[in-house]
Amino acid sequence: MLKLGVLISGRGSNLQSLIDACASPGFPAEIALVISNRPDAAGLARAEKAGIRALTIDHKRYTTREAFERDMDAALREAGVGLVCSAGFMRVLTPWFVEAWWDRQLNIHPSLLPAFRGLHVHEQALAAGVRVSGCTVHFVRPEMDSGPIIAQAAVPVLTGDTPDTLAARVLEAEHKLYPLAVRLIGEGKAKIVGEQVVIDAPSRERDVLFAPHPT
Ligand code: GRF
Repeated sequence: MLKLGVLISGRGSNLQSLIDACASPGFPAEIALVISNRPDAAGLARAEKAGIRALTIDHKRYTTREAFERDMDAALREAGVGLVCSAGFMRVLTPWFVEAWWDRQLNIHPSLLPAFRGLHVHEQALAAGVRVSGCTVHFVRPEMDSGPIIAQAAVPVLTGDTPDTLAARVLEAEHKLYPLAVRLIGEGKAKIVGEQVVIDAPSRERDVLFAPHPT
């Protein structure tokens, strides 16, 4: 069973999708630890409700980024974590942490990378006038919102969309995509070859770009 460490900073709806996936029969992962860098993150209550160990490691109590990360790293190792999943974790990670969890850390980003990295993603997408947006789960590399892509989901951009309506549509896809990506890794079906992810799975599982319909 793959042990996940989920890093959050806020609402935690992606954490919830992983909690729900892990509760489903046959899912190859379990959440060993949730870490929030903010004591007021709503996601902490989701972990508590599910009976999952959750820690606050408040970055504001540290004078250096690296000291903060060393405590996160120690907690993740102590919990036996094999895969770190950033889920709305709003701290930039140093190369030291990224290297410590190289090929063992994922992030979810609410755009079809490499388009629209960074913040205000849906504003960026609307300003660009794209007809399709979506989300990406990728391995973490030192450059923000980059790294080998495991899975993407596309959603349409509709006339009259605001950043909020587009965000809600993308978020719905995120909740399907993150568990899918974790499952592929947990089952050993997603391998990094030359900085690209090769999916070694039969049938539909290879088709990791999908386009759920908006509700
Ligand atoms: C998601 O849109 C995620 O892609 C981005 O931050 C948001 C986090 O939402 N990185 P939540 O905390 O998981 O609800």
